[in-house]
Amino acid sequence: MKASIQTAREDFPITERVTYLASCGSSPLPKRVAEASKAYYDNRMVGDRLDLDTVFKKGKSEAAKLINAREDEIAFVKGTTEGINTVASMMDYRPGDNIVLADVEFTSNVYPWMRAAKHENLELRVVKSRNDGIWPEDYEKLVNDHTRVVAISDVQMANGFKCDLKEISRIAHSHGAYLAVDVIQSAGTMQVDSRNPEFDFMVAGSHKWLLGPSGMGFLFVRRDLIERFEPVFIGPWQEDFVYSAPIDFTFRPYKLSTTARRFELGGHPNIPGVIGFVEALTYINEIGKENIERKNMKLFELVIENIERQGLSIPDWATQPGYRSSYIGYKSSQGVREVKEKAEKNGVVIAPSRTILGDRVRIAPHFFCSEEEVVRAVEVLGQIERGVQITPAVA
Ligand SMILES: Cc1ncc(COP(=O)(O)O)c(C=O)c1O
Repeated sequence: MKASIQTAREDFPITERVTYLASCGSSPLPKRVAEASKAYYDNRMVGDRLDLDTVFKKGKSEAAKLINAREDEIAFVKGTTEGINTVASMMDYRPGDNIVLADVEFTSNVYPWMRAAKHENLELRVVKSRNDGIWPEDYEKLVNDHTRVVAISDVQMANGFKCDLKEISRIAHSHGAYLAVDVIQSAGTMQVDSRNPEFDFMVAGSHKWLLGPSGMGFLFVRRDLIERFEPVFIGPWQEDFVYSAPIDFTFRPYKLSTTARRFELGGHPNIPGVIGFVEALTYINEIGKENIERKNMKLFELVIENIERQGLSIPDWATQPGYRSSYIGYKSSQGVREVKEKAEKNGVVIAPSRTILGDRVRIAPHFFCSEEEVVRAVEVLGQIERGVQITPAVA
């Protein structure tokens, strides 16, 4: 049976136990994703073989559908960190180049660029976050004709701030820089369109809003850039062979695939991970990205409304539609670990974070959450912050 937004809650056994508001950290698996990966091990026990070509093809077509791309622009990778490293390490840097990124980026989108800067003798230009966000005018000041890459997250891990990607893309491209975007905090919960704005590189891990296993993700490389780059790590199956074809292991020069497959590190893949990820992408596309976005925006509005009612402080951008994602990190009056523990005792799972913005309590509902439980959860958090007796949940 096809999945639907109306019955989605039933697909998540976790909803019977807790109010899960930590999808920006990692999401619970839908039943059918867990079952798909489990089935692989069951079949492997009895020696069944799998048509991997079909699995990969299906997965890439689902990923392409999700981000409005072409199948041949998608590579499966071991998550965001690997995807960003692939891009940062193969870039065609020129003497005197610089890389522009923000001080609030998650480490996965910082260290690979720091390493590239160190080894390629590049300048790292760091945009300073202001008012809990990152703003195009600050990019305008730092991006110039020597900028090779603007590396950015569509939505910031620390607090859920959604940047003005259209404007930042315009700035990067007007100087001939590549735009490399980490979409792990937006793909699967908000619309991400590889053509609008035009992305050069895009990466997302599967374990958050995409509802898949850890250690999987996709890397998008725009069609006309694919053959311009050669990944630093290479191995078998990065050529234009299919898994089912007899492979030529004779000693000969390699010829990388002309599709994004060339960026998919060769050797035997993490098959249960791939299977789970493909199932998760299929599931999300069945539910429908518009339906997911609509529901998650509604839940976000409820969170904001109730956070304000509880007297918790939120940044200004959270009330402006252009900068909202589907979660928010607020500043707690207490230690975030303590808040997390107290909330869990009351059936609410949140995601703490510690970054240059300080400690935050992140409230990140996904479409399997109900409006009622989200309202109650924010009330519980308000009571924890005020140190008052917590109202028990109504069964
Ligand atoms: C913005 C951002 N990028 C990257 C990552 C790491 O992704 P992965 O585990 O897929 O490498 C995270 C969190 O885990 C994140 O929040």
